[in-house]
Amino acid sequence: MIEVNNLVKVYRSKKNKEVIGVNDVSLKIKEGEIYGIIGYSGAGKSSLIRCLNLLEIPTSGKVKIDGLELTKLSEKNLRKARQKIGMIFQHFYLASSKTVYENIAFALKAAGKSPKEIDARVKELLELVGLSDKLNQYPAQLSGGQKQRVGIARALANEPKVLLCDEATSALDPSTTKSILNLLKTINQKLGLTIVLITHEMEVVKEICHRLAVMQDGKVIEEGPVYDIFANPVQPLTKDFIQSVLQFNLPQQLIENRKGTIIKIQFKGAIAEESVVSDLFQQFKVKGNILHGKIEYIQDVPLGVFIMELTGEEKEVQRAINYIEERTQNLEVVEHVA
Ligand SMILES: Nc1ncnc2c1ncn2[C@@H]1O[C@H](COP(=O)(O)OP(=O)(O)OP(=O)(O)O)[C@@H](O)[C@H]1O
Ligand SMILES: [Mg+2]
Repeated sequence: MIEVNNLVKVYRSKKNKEVIGVNDVSLKIKEGEIYGIIGYSGAGKSSLIRCLNLLEIPTSGKVKIDGLELTKLSEKNLRKARQKIGMIFQHFYLASSKTVYENIAFALKAAGKSPKEIDARVKELLELVGLSDKLNQYPAQLSGGQKQRVGIARALANEPKVLLCDEATSALDPSTTKSILNLLKTINQKLGLTIVLITHEMEVVKEICHRLAVMQDGKVIEEGPVYDIFANPVQPLTKDFIQSVLQFNLPQQLIENRKGTIIKIQFKGAIAEESVVSDLFQQFKVKGNILHGKIEYIQDVPLGVFIMELTGEEKEVQRAINYIEERTQNLEVVEHVA
């Protein structure tokens, strides 16, 4: 659905100094998926997403959406193509002098729809975002979450195939964030809309994204299905982000002064529901002291971590470790005190 090839965006500062926004990014985003892009401030996320609808003109590289190479289109055709790409922002950008109804109607008018079509569509959209009772209110009379719902309705007005979200929930409190994410999830499922979502919060990714790209210094440094990245982050930055939501590590003082072998076991997917640990104690003469245990659900798929101190005869402990390694393929000996 979206294909980005070797995209580069270089800005020129007033002193004619070059600032790199996006540095040679290539991506493929599939139809109907929710694709997350995460990175710290200045990583180039907004630059990248703004290049997707040519709100920012790429310095070089290609952007193809739904078979159309946007970077090659004339001004007029680009305007038309843009109607099929909705966008929402952190600060909503609603017209303050217009009512909720008028804010949404505006996008439809711009696309040349008749008043009758506009009226029916605005009402349908307000229903979809749960704001049917607010149509005559002004933005100042709405909460942040409600404003973002108007933003979403407006972005969906012309039935786009793609919705770009630049920090759409960053100005909202956690529970409002959740309700907006749920709305995006519903829209994704109901309308089959492809969603690209920029965030600096891993919690948001964990909640709704199917795949994820991690950005640093204008580059995509890691990319893949969200669950795989949570289970096996490779880059230090990705590990930092995962750590921020999963907190699977132990405080150092808990590890010190232990007599046994401390093992960390990670359970992925269905295996998180298996009885590996109880089987272990039935089969081997070892004792286990549980130091930490947690199962997180990444969109309903479990990812668990269990940290234990094993004590017993060294040979038996080793056999037990081999056994767990075989069953989970993911065991790390944190500390081994012989
Ligand atoms: N219009 C601009 N002119 C000059 N430099 C810019 C411009 N927009 C962005 N940059 C620079 O490009 C780099 C990437 O910025 P960008 O806004 O894409 O980052 P970001 O990941 O969206 O950050 P944030 O999380 O703070 O929104 C930064 O170094 C920034 O200073
Ligand atoms: Mg940004």
